[in-house]
Amino acid sequence: MLTTHTFFTTTAKGMEDLLASELRELGAQAVDVRRAGVSFAGDLESAYRVCLWSRIANRVLLPLATFRATTPQALYDGVRTIRWADHVDPRRTLAVDCVTSQSKVTHSHFAALKTKDAIVDQLRVETGTRPSVDVAQPDVRVNVYLHADRAVVSIDLSGESLHRRAYRQRGAAAPLKENLAAAILALADWPRHAAAGAPLIDPMCGSGTLPIEAALMAAHIAPGRGRTYFGFLGWRGHQAATWARLRQEAEAREIRDPKRLPPIHGYDASPAMVRAALTNVERAGLRGRVHIEKRSLEACEPMTIRGRAATPGILVLNPPYGERVGDRAGLGDLYAMLGDTLRRKFPGWTGCVFTGNPALSKRIGLRAARRHILYNGAIECRLLVFPISAQPVRDDAGPRWRHEPPG
Ligand SMILES: C[S@@+](CC[C@H](N)C(=O)[O-])C[C@H]1O[C@@H](n2cnc3c(N)ncnc32)[C@H](O)[C@@H]1O
Repeated sequence: MLTTHTFFTTTAKGMEDLLASELRELGAQAVDVRRAGVSFAGDLESAYRVCLWSRIANRVLLPLATFRATTPQALYDGVRTIRWADHVDPRRTLAVDCVTSQSKVTHSHFAALKTKDAIVDQLRVETGTRPSVDVAQPDVRVNVYLHADRAVVSIDLSGESLHRRAYRQRGAAAPLKENLAAAILALADWPRHAAAGAPLIDPMCGSGTLPIEAALMAAHIAPGRGRTYFGFLGWRGHQAATWARLRQEAEAREIRDPKRLPPIHGYDASPAMVRAALTNVERAGLRGRVHIEKRSLEACEPMTIRGRAATPGILVLNPPYGERVGDRAGLGDLYAMLGDTLRRKFPGWTGCVFTGNPALSKRIGLRAARRHILYNGAIECRLLVFPISAQPVRDDAGPRWRHEPPG
């Protein structure tokens, strides 16, 4: 008989509702948006499916025990009530993550240490052996969530955050996290447009995160496909045959023929960024399915398909907003140029601009039909959705206030 568990998934602030919808689409039951994440019910296969297919989640946790822990000793005792030999091979590696809030035990690092001691002590008494610690990629990662003096101790089935899809090279300046890019695309209604064959352009693609995530969605590629590490692979409860079957099913769903995919283009003015994006496209296995090119915003226009301008689609971008990339000087003009480019060259398209600077976004000079608050790390950002009139604008210089000096 299959055992039903209640799993807990985490994501970035502001993305909980998107995660809940995604979990329902993946067949999860009893989906419930809670503090700091979303819970769902299902068997282990349903959790594996989320690890493989979720574009929005960070982690998938399997709670083992919940108890009151007002002191480090109470935490230690509570952790020792769990039969760790069912979960951890004492000859392999372990790590413990801990978050505490509104609790008497305030020091999360110390709480993690007490938890690790409790697990190691129990296994040593029972088996004479103890697991060693590997904080980077342990065989089993244990998660402790201590809130209001209640501890929830879980196995972290993801092992490391699911936003790491394994295609990204390190070092590109200010890339979007992959799951934030996926959230932007979901809010831009990209999956529906992609299914209808509509094109997508990111005119400031940087390392290519938005075009790559867009292609993974359009081609039905599981975002976890390229990962070789998950937290369940070294866990004693792992069901290897179930995991192998899910991976095979994912392989079978992938659309490989570029002719069956919508056009997806990424441009950037920086040669270094174009190189990074091309490398990432290659590493994501998307060569021929995503087009990357060095091109500045001034030269951006709808792509041509067999000699004709593409039908309207989505123009999505994350322009610099003066927090990490570049300074603010000159950015107002860039945003104004973006508004003009949209109105003049992209009639009928939908512009989706993700920015952390509301003052700059006003310089676009277009009225947003929708705005969504999302967080890029600690920075509160907005995704602004601009439906562009199907009537192209020709000699209009845009609103006068936009060209006046700031202040
Ligand atoms: C915040 S980054 C985009 C990051 C990207 N979403 C990613 O995940 O890597 C903004 C990008 O805009 C590019 N950019 C700035 N001004 C531009 C212009 N006038 N035309 C084209 N690209 C420009 C920069 O080179 C930079 O790569």
